[in-house]
Amino acid sequence: MIEFSSVTKRFPDGTVAVDSLDLTMATGELTVLVGPSGCGKTTSLRMINRLDEASEGTIAVDGQDVRSRSLTDLRRGMGYVMQHSGLFPHRTIGDNIATVPRLLGWDKKRIAARVDELIDTVGLDADMVARYPHQLSGGQQQRVGVARALAADPPIMLMDEPFAAVDPIVRKRLQDEFLALQERLGKTIVFVTHDIDEAIRLGDRIAVFGEGGHLAQFATPDALLASPQSDFVVDFLGAEPQLKRLSLITAGRATPVEAPVVAPDADAEAAATAAHRAGTDWVLVLDGERRIAGWHRLEAYRQDTGRAVERFDATVSAADTLRAALGVLVLSQLGVVARLDEAGRFDGLLDQSSLNRALC
Ligand SMILES: Nc1ncnc2c1ncn2[C@@H]1O[C@H](COP(=O)(O)OP(=O)(O)OP(=O)(O)O)[C@@H](O)[C@H]1O
Ligand SMILES: [Mg+2]
Repeated sequence: MIEFSSVTKRFPDGTVAVDSLDLTMATGELTVLVGPSGCGKTTSLRMINRLDEASEGTIAVDGQDVRSRSLTDLRRGMGYVMQHSGLFPHRTIGDNIATVPRLLGWDKKRIAARVDELIDTVGLDADMVARYPHQLSGGQQQRVGVARALAADPPIMLMDEPFAAVDPIVRKRLQDEFLALQERLGKTIVFVTHDIDEAIRLGDRIAVFGEGGHLAQFATPDALLASPQSDFVVDFLGAEPQLKRLSLITAGRATPVEAPVVAPDADAEAAATAAHRAGTDWVLVLDGERRIAGWHRLEAYRQDTGRAVERFDATVSAADTLRAALGVLVLSQLGVVARLDEAGRFDGLLDQSSLNRALC
């Protein structure tokens, strides 16, 4: 793990960029540093690989003070994505990505294969390896920066606003890919961003920095949203914290309510029993494979109108967020959402109480 103990950074002109910071970042977790501009995020990151030296206090990686390690050794174990990509302008994209593997003396074939693999991982075209950084857009350069940091597969990644220069759609895609990659690689990542939604999506834990480089709060995304400890943190989290919490929970984790389900050939009595048990005046009709055929009001059985089922399309999949489920719920005529499994079969009924319980 990475452990800051009473770390202060004072620049020669007297600016205190980081003020007595205590922070422990767990191995294999993604810790996000967020906060307003100038609050010391980049400086904190740069003290880990000693691009800036702490003025007071210690930073230890796996129990060892970073000052006791040689710079080469320390930085070899840490990929660093700079805030503004920081690519070498006179080297091609391929050469930029190959920087650390070259230093490590890998042979040419292995380097070329790794470069190809990484270009693909960060979603760039293979023909870009021969270009120079100025021939790429800002967002593409940032992705090359990520590829370069990943090149020698270091256990620790320090990432300074790596997705800041891309549009919201590409950013969302990069975040998804990044989460999938992290699931596979399990690296220890320190990730700086301005974007609170990005922090909530990606972070295992979030450190909110306040003005003057002090730590305002350090917590999991859910704990931060559920109980922010100061007005500053409340302001920083922005509007609708409870909706943001809903976006952290999948529909698969919510507790369903009793569902009034019947078979297509159920009679009036069976329908009445199912509805009574669930406290509804309607039933959900499931076919033999537990797929939703539609719904009926109980009256339809009494009137015997041929009982054509009504369409039921208020559904979410188990992998959707509860925020998505709420979006469906507000438009749902019956005030419920049906959760479907991967095969599209009925897997439980959610109503407002399910959302409420997920947050309480
Ligand atoms: N070399 C330096 N000399 C003096 N002051 C510096 C130096 N580098 C950074 N600072 C100051 O330290 C403070 C923290 O800077 P830092 O770059 O860590 O902020 P940041 O949180 O990363 O901001 P941003 O979100 O804008 O990137 C700022 O007030 C900045 O002006
Ligand atoms: Mg910065």
